[in-house]
Amino acid sequence: MIITIASFKGGVGKTTTAVHLAAYLALQSTTLLIDGDPNRSATRWSERGGLPFKVVDERQAAKYARKAEHIVIDTQAHPEQEDLEALADGCDRLILPCTPDALALDAMMLTVKALHQLGSDKYRILLTIIPPKPSKDGEEARKMLTDAGLPVLTSEIRRYSAFKKAALEGTVVNGVTDKKARIAWSDYQALGKEIQTNE
Ligand SMILES: Nc1ncnc2c1ncn2[C@@H]1O[C@H](COP(=O)(O)OP(=O)(O)OP(=O)(O)O)[C@@H](O)[C@H]1O
Ligand SMILES: [Mg+2]
Repeated sequence: MIITIASFKGGVGKTTTAVHLAAYLALQSTTLLIDGDPNRSATRWSERGGLPFKVVDERQAAKYARKAEHIVIDTQAHPEQEDLEALADGCDRLILPCTPDALALDAMMLTVKALHQLGSDKYRILLTIIPPKPSKDGEEARKMLTDAGLPVLTSEIRRYSAFKKAALEGTVVNGVTDKKARIAWSDYQALGKEIQTNE
């Protein structure tokens, strides 16, 4: 399966999602993360510590893709319409992370309009970095997106500082020392399951 992670807005958790989805898939079979962002955040993540899958950039992708059962592609924020067309064409599933705030939701609407223009129905929205209760931001964002008829994944990723630690240490979140490390990881496990069952 080829899964691409994209968004118009920056900082919505694309790289975090790419790394953790790849970590989930790597438990089952050979997985490759293609770092398609010129900032190379995923590459640096893996260089800081070590991830249980290979991270390569698009220039190395052709060779390593041959050996991989699953491929996750991290991309740069702010894709142009053309980029989005190519991104959607190049994968089986396009995951669009979106944080539950007005700016990200606005950007999301732009993405979806662009995707509709492509006639692509393989995308799913993933709500990310959801603040804990009593905040209702997550619920409200989900309602707004579903009311607009958009495909939102049931799984969602909550805000845990363990994810920042994982990025700093260059590991997967279940490998960091943090009270919430396991529950943070369980959010991505649920996402991985959902994506695979809806394949
Ligand atoms: N679920 C989460 N809980 C808490 N912090 C998070 C979570 N997901 C991501 N972050 C943090 O939010 C910031 C942005 O995340 P990330 O780099 O994954 O986003 P991005 O969409 O790839 O950004 P860019 O557009 O710059 O590539 C990082 O500091 C990351 O550690
Ligand atoms: Mg990124």
